[in-house]
Parts: sequence; structure tokens; C-alpha cells
Amino acid sequence: MSAKGSFYITTPIYYPSSKLHIGHTYTTVAADVMARYKRAQGFDVMFLTGTDEHGQKIENVAKAQGKAPKEFLDKVVAEIKDLWKVMEISYDKFIRTTDDYHERRVQMMFEKLYEKGDIYKGTYEGMYCTPCESFWTESQLVDHKCPDCGREVTKTSEEAYFFKMSKYQDRLLDLFENVEGFAEPKSRVNEMVNNFLKPGLEDLCVTRTSFNWGIPVTFDPKHVIYVWLDALSNYVTALGYPEEVDGDFAKFWPADVHLVGKEIVRFHTIIWPAMLMALDIPVPKKVFGHGWILLEGGKMSKSKGNIVDPVVLIDRYGVDALKYFLLREYSFGQDGIFTNEVLLNRLNSDLANDLGNLVSRTVAMIEKYNGGVIKKGSAITAFDASLSALAEETIGKVEERLDKLDFSTALDEIWKLVRRTNKYIDETSPWALAKDEQQKDVLDTVLYNLSESIRIVSALIQPFMIHTSRKIWSQFGLEEGDLTHWDSARSFGLLPEGLQVTKAEALFPRIDVPKELEALAALGAPVEAPQTEEKTSEENVKDKASADVHTAPQPAEISIDDFAKVQLKVAEVVACERHPNADKLLVLQLKVGEETRQVVSGISKFFEPEALVGRKVILVANLKAVKLRGVESHGMILAAADGESLGLLTVDMPSGTTVS
Ligand code: MSP
Repeated sequence: MSAKGSFYITTPIYYPSSKLHIGHTYTTVAADVMARYKRAQGFDVMFLTGTDEHGQKIENVAKAQGKAPKEFLDKVVAEIKDLWKVMEISYDKFIRTTDDYHERRVQMMFEKLYEKGDIYKGTYEGMYCTPCESFWTESQLVDHKCPDCGREVTKTSEEAYFFKMSKYQDRLLDLFENVEGFAEPKSRVNEMVNNFLKPGLEDLCVTRTSFNWGIPVTFDPKHVIYVWLDALSNYVTALGYPEEVDGDFAKFWPADVHLVGKEIVRFHTIIWPAMLMALDIPVPKKVFGHGWILLEGGKMSKSKGNIVDPVVLIDRYGVDALKYFLLREYSFGQDGIFTNEVLLNRLNSDLANDLGNLVSRTVAMIEKYNGGVIKKGSAITAFDASLSALAEETIGKVEERLDKLDFSTALDEIWKLVRRTNKYIDETSPWALAKDEQQKDVLDTVLYNLSESIRIVSALIQPFMIHTSRKIWSQFGLEEGDLTHWDSARSFGLLPEGLQVTKAEALFPRIDVPKELEALAALGAPVEAPQTEEKTSEENVKDKASADVHTAPQPAEISIDDFAKVQLKVAEVVACERHPNADKLLVLQLKVGEETRQVVSGISKFFEPEALVGRKVILVANLKAVKLRGVESHGMILAAADGESLGLLTVDMPSGTTVS
């Protein structure tokens, strides 16, 4: 083990998707920078990422493509690994939940918890929405209806295994209240304590019998282990637990930090620690829930041409620029809005202007005034002390920020030095000094101080932008080693005399913003965009919870009087657009006789909005109005669906006609 000790950092394991957008890459880029920073400091780092591959959804998607789940997954996982390669994500281990060792170790953990009595067999009761094939808890329902489609739900039950989470309620509260820094940022602590822990924890259903694509319970194989127990365990199975506890597990557990998006903080700060407590192993030292990168105005911005495909952005601006942008522009704990314009302006101001110009001006002046050789002047200017003091202080400030995962202000501290160094050029006016032979020694000092300041900047940016650091080192004739090492940024004045500088291409070419915006708009948005508006973590939990489904119960019989209560009418679709906050939903404007109605319907997977305009559909007209993801819905339209395809019920009669 290194003198500094070990450092274990994880990202969530990703749902397999070949279209990861820059929002997805945010967690991984942040973890990558942290891993590189800790390695640079001399820690023995384990950086884990991977893929979350079980569950009903994956089984369905594979089936729809006519593939076996593993065949489908192998291809997508290879694509994700390719993306991490392009993004130069320096993970040490990539875990797949379909890896044999993971499956075996999850089964062992399940058995352990069962033997201890912390997992027991019981009956799962939930509210079931037949069209959506999803179970919901009472608290997830909206107006007692399915939160996804607004339809009636029925109470139903099935046999399942439960984890005794309620038993760990007090220990969890203690963890939140007394272990400093366990969950961050602080706002997430309050949310967890007030919304989940204080109201009381329920035991957690941890198996399903309604699908097969999961890890079977060894002693009762018709049950498969439900996704969260399988997924969260990856953080320890990757280290060998529970089979091999003397190697990586002993070295790296407990994790120093689990980085997660804010919507999965609850799983990581409540369910996961409770499981670990039940297994008698320590909880992670920290779970950090970062904010989301969203698109402007709550709308899918395809028309505005915002580019959210990381590969396109890297092709145009380079991987260093994208990593810098993501971590500098957005405050890590909070949400932020992405637009092409914000990106381009940030690249121009910080990279092309501040850093790029500083390096190119300095190299050009050393070439012009000193034949490309760095000399150590013996004169002193009035501005040297403040420059060298700031240069030496910066590393401490950067470390303090990075240790708090505050990437944006860490970069800002480095840029304060970049800007101070640019100001030093203005203060000392080397071009004026160059005109006076008597000032030669002062000129040498100034050029030396500029080079030294740039060396310190280049050492500090290396966790974020290693290519840029290397380009700078090459321009200043530096080999990677003692003078480029992280710790070398602690001392000003290390550069030896006599290094030869070489001018090279601009580090970051200046972008013509209006022209580039046009080019980006023409490219369009080739991948599914990030979430368009902040969802509450509860809404996201619902999304994740509904990812897996139970078998459909038989609906109860109704009388003709019951049926007569339903008012069905012919309605014509006069306008239709995508829901601003939910990918699955469309917002339809319907003409029903003289009246116009707005209805939100979960059919976006099957129809382009414009294709519905003009169609005559059947509306349940007397359904109580509900709000679906913030948009009012007055009624419901009828459709026949089998999960993979959907047909709308239509009829060629005037709008407003009663259907009976
Ligand atoms: N499989 C689960 C995690 C299980 S961990 C035991 C999952 N996967 S995910 O693919 O949906 O998300 C992976 C990461 O991407 C999460 O941290 C998520 O928050 C992050 N992001 C996805 N979209 C995002 C944005 N638009 N912005 C920032 N991060 C977001 O959840």
C-alpha cells in the first residue's frame, strides 16, 4: 500500500444504453478526475464503474430486438466501454452484474442475510396498474391512480422475500445525524431524514417472481433477486466480498466515496447502509449526490440543436475541453442547464483566452526575446512576490476544494492563478523591457516567472486535462517527472535555466461562436436528451421502481351500472406535442363537440405527435382530472397494448358523439 493509503471511489453502475448523453457522463467524469487527483497525490486508488444488467426492462428490450439478453447486453456494454475509452475514463475495474463472480457473491450475501433472519419470506402487496404492468405503493399513487398513466389501480399480492430494513431505522438515523460527511451535500441529508427516515422505514421487497432475467435465489429459484439488492452489492462484490475478504476488500472497503446522481441518493444512503449493517460490514465513508445537467426551458431542445452526444463534442473540441466544461460550469451538488452557447462561451473565455493566450504569449516572447531559452534573471520586480505567493498557495486551495468534491471552485482557484499571471504580463510589459538593453535581467526574471507560473498551472490541471498539461510540458521542454508532479506545484522557482521552449499550435483555438452555433444546430441532437426538467427524487424513485413488474392480476367483474358510469365520447386530436417533463407522455388537445380538452397520454413510444393530429379517438370523458408530471389531464384515450405495440381505438364519427 502507498504511504498515503488507499482511496476507493465508485460511480453508479449504468443501465445498458448505447446512447449515453453528457448528463450520464457527468458522474463518471467527476469520478475520473477524483481518481486521477488522488493517484497524483500518491494514493493507491481503486476506481470502479460498470453496468447494471438485470431486470424486466432489459429482458423486454432484448426480446423486442429478437436477441437473448446476454447477446444484447454484450453489444451495449462494449459500446459503453468504447465511450469511456474515448472519454479517457481511467477506471481500474469494470463490473457487470452479469459477471459470474458477482452473481455468485450476491447469492451468498442473500443466503447470509436469510440465515441471519434479516431476509424473510412474506407477501408483497401493492397497487397494480394493468396497462402499465407496474406495481405502486399507496404513497406513490397520484389521486389513488397510476402516477404514470392516471388509470385505476387494483390491490394485488404475491409471495416474495423481504429485507428487514425497519430494524435498521435507528442506526440509520444515527448515521445521518452523527457521522459528519456521510451524505452530502447537506440538503440531501435533510431530505432523507425528514422524508424517509423520520416517517418510518418499511421492510423492502427484494425478490420478484414475474420475470427471469435476474439472479435466482439459490434455495428458492423461482424468485429472482430484485435489481437494487443486486446492483448496490456491486460495490463490494467487485472487491471480493464475501468470498475473498483479505485482498482488495480489506484494502479498499469502506469506500471513500460513492458518487451518485441525486435521484439515487436514497438507495445509497438508506437501503445500502442498512444492508451493510445487516452484513456486519462498515458503511461507506461518503455518498455524494450530485445535481443534474438539464436542457433549457424544460423542453426537449432538439429544435434548438443542443448537442448532448459526448462523442460529437469531443470530436469538435477535444476531451480535455469537455471535461473542463462539465466540472467548471456546474456546481457539483446542484442542477445546471446545458446549451451549446454556454459551452462555447466557456471554452472561449477560460481555455482559448485565459489559458491558451497565456501559454502562447509566453512561449512567443521567450522565442522572440531570448532565442527560445528560459533564463533565470536575478532582478526582482514589484509584482513577483504576489505572483509567486499565489502560485504556491494555489495547490492547498485546490486540494481543499477537491477533497470536498467541489470541482468548479477548485478549477476557479487554478484560473485565479492563470488570470493573475496574465495580469503580470500587463504589469511588467515585457515588450517594453525588451526595447531597453539595460532591462535585460528584469526581462529574464519576468519570462522566468511566467514560465514557472505556467508550470504550476500545468501540474494542477493534470487530473482534469492531461493532454493540455502534456502539450504545455512539451512546449517548455519538460519531461514528465519531478517538475511536473502534483507536489511540484507547492514550490515556485523549480524550473532550471536553459530549457528550450518550442512554439506549437494554440492549445485551444478560438471558436467563432455564431458560426459554430449554426454548425451545431445543423447537426441536431443525435441522442436522447438529458432529463428536461428537474424531477423530484421521489419521482425518479418511482421511475426506477417501475422498471420491474409483477404478473397481471385478473380484474374484478363489474355490473352494467358500473359500466354506465363511464362516459365515452368521440374526440378529434387537433394538436399534440411531447410532454415537457416526461419522455413517455404526449399532451393532446382534443375537440369533443364544441369543447376542447387537454389529455396527457403515455403513448409517446408509439407515435410521433404530429402523426396523431386529425385522428378520431375514444375519450373517457368523465374521468377526474389529474396532473401528470405537472400537466393537467382531463380524461383518457383508449388504446389496445401488449407492451411492445399499441393501437389507438378510433372511430369515424363526428367528434362529441357518445360511445356506448
Ligand atoms: N443503474 C442505476 C444505478 C445503480 S447503482 C447501484 C442507474 N443508472 S443510470 O444509467 O440511470 O444512471 C447512471 C448515472 O447517470 C446516475 O448517477 C445518474 O444520476 C446519472 N445521470 C443520468 N442523467 C443525468 C443528467 N442529465 N445529469 C447528471 N447526471 C445524470 O441509475
